[in-house]
Amino acid sequence: MADFAWWQRGVIYQLYPRSFQDGDGDGVGDLAGIHQRLDYLAWLGVDAVWIPPIYPSPMADFGYDITDHCAIDPLFGTLAEFDALLAEAHERGLRVILDFVPNHTSDMHPWFQDALRGRDAAHRDWYLWADPAADGGPPNNWRSHFGGPAWTLDPVTGQYYLHAFLKEQPDLNWRNPAVARAMAQVMRFWLDRGVDGLRLDATWHLIKDEHLRNNPPDPSWHAGLPEHEKLAHVYTSDRPEVQRLVCELRQVVDEYPDRVLIGELYLPIERVVAYYGTAGNGIHLPANALLIGAPWDADSIGAAADRYEALLPVFGWPNWALGNHDKPRIAGRVPPGHSRLAALLLLTLRGTPTLYYGDELGMCDGEIPPAAIRDPIERNMPGLGRGRDPQRTPMQWDDSPNAGFSPGQPWLPVAAGFEALNVAGQRADDASLLTLYRRLLQLRRAEPALAVGRYAGQGAPPGILRYEREHDGRYLTVVLNFNETPRRIPGLQGRVLLSTLGRDEGRDIDDSLLLLPGEGAILTGRPGPAAG
Ligand code: NOJ
Repeated sequence: MADFAWWQRGVIYQLYPRSFQDGDGDGVGDLAGIHQRLDYLAWLGVDAVWIPPIYPSPMADFGYDITDHCAIDPLFGTLAEFDALLAEAHERGLRVILDFVPNHTSDMHPWFQDALRGRDAAHRDWYLWADPAADGGPPNNWRSHFGGPAWTLDPVTGQYYLHAFLKEQPDLNWRNPAVARAMAQVMRFWLDRGVDGLRLDATWHLIKDEHLRNNPPDPSWHAGLPEHEKLAHVYTSDRPEVQRLVCELRQVVDEYPDRVLIGELYLPIERVVAYYGTAGNGIHLPANALLIGAPWDADSIGAAADRYEALLPVFGWPNWALGNHDKPRIAGRVPPGHSRLAALLLLTLRGTPTLYYGDELGMCDGEIPPAAIRDPIERNMPGLGRGRDPQRTPMQWDDSPNAGFSPGQPWLPVAAGFEALNVAGQRADDASLLTLYRRLLQLRRAEPALAVGRYAGQGAPPGILRYEREHDGRYLTVVLNFNETPRRIPGLQGRVLLSTLGRDEGRDIDDSLLLLPGEGAILTGRPGPAAG
């Protein structure tokens, strides 16, 4: 295990700062709140916490629109509080990863405010400007992910500026070396403070076609999908130059020992793995969203895992996630009861897992009444099911008013049913999902085969996913029953270390194991020949 970095052995916990714990009673989560809950994270047994943006922001995109990269928004606290939080986290053996948002700033950032002063402004070329098309409209057909054109006209200077997301989030011009230098300084600011890693937001967007060519239509588009998906984002995403840029960002991280660079990349998996770079000079963990997108069945998930393993470069360390603050929660994407299977999968596939806050309880997407909608995606493109408020509802700590999240009015409504689904209740229940997560996390620490071992997919009967993990001659077999009926899994020998339903644990199996619907198990011992 010592040969592996902490970010390879460990498990990352992603929280959403507005929604984790409110420490000052204003209804919005903050650093003081996170501080209060560090003991919970240590108790749960995760190794690192990823905190999405906490920097000064007008909050048009809830912190992903930054006005000062080197400060803390007063809504969340102060820099001194951040330093104290980092120190306290480190004292508990928890690492801290921050979001780094290089693609865009807020339109209120002093750089952009200066750029607006005129075509000769010092920071004009820090952003992407273009003259109107012949008809006076936007320079080309590029669309924003958040609805409407990706271009907004600045009437004063008569040029359009580019924004992949909201018009309040102008894209930076990464071809300008001054931008690269300034953003490297931002990275150093946080790495100097002792931050253990950075998560690059919207990595695949950083460079756009310099000729501003129109994106071609995407033939797979159909009614019901957002309008920007009508186009294939050939000229606005995953441009070859992004690879070079990523290597430069990695070099900055490598100035510091033991730090990790994570990259957000919604691309086909064969393109995601390209971001490891060559000879490991790219992103340590290019985010793998396969479990977020794959249909929930044994064949699809097994095939996705095998394919990913086959595509990884030899130096590439895998990673997995079931969800994040941009995607519907796992509990609602799987059949009832399968949250346990999902936990087993996340924590036993090879690679660094990222656990999204509340998923350890089985939190579901909250119902957001129209008047409570906050997410700009839902506001701009209502009814398409892309709104992100439902997966950002307050953490459910206990059955007190507002689920123990805040004494004030929460910024988003607490999801219904929190009285029965919360940390306090599940901590006291040996059969709860939270207890299962904690047991799995403990087992990963105790069993290097689970944390860092080799992976081999194995043949299995229909609806069963089966794979082996091995480290230093220690073999473990993981079996998951996706069927709605009990299944006997042949060709198994060994001791049941853990069952997601707590059955048969400690029992020696010398032939086959019966799994109930939605049950999964981890067994020790070298298995017999895999059954096809
Ligand atoms: C990806 C982030 O995860 C998302 O929340 C944000 O809205 C966009 N990037 C824009 O920064």
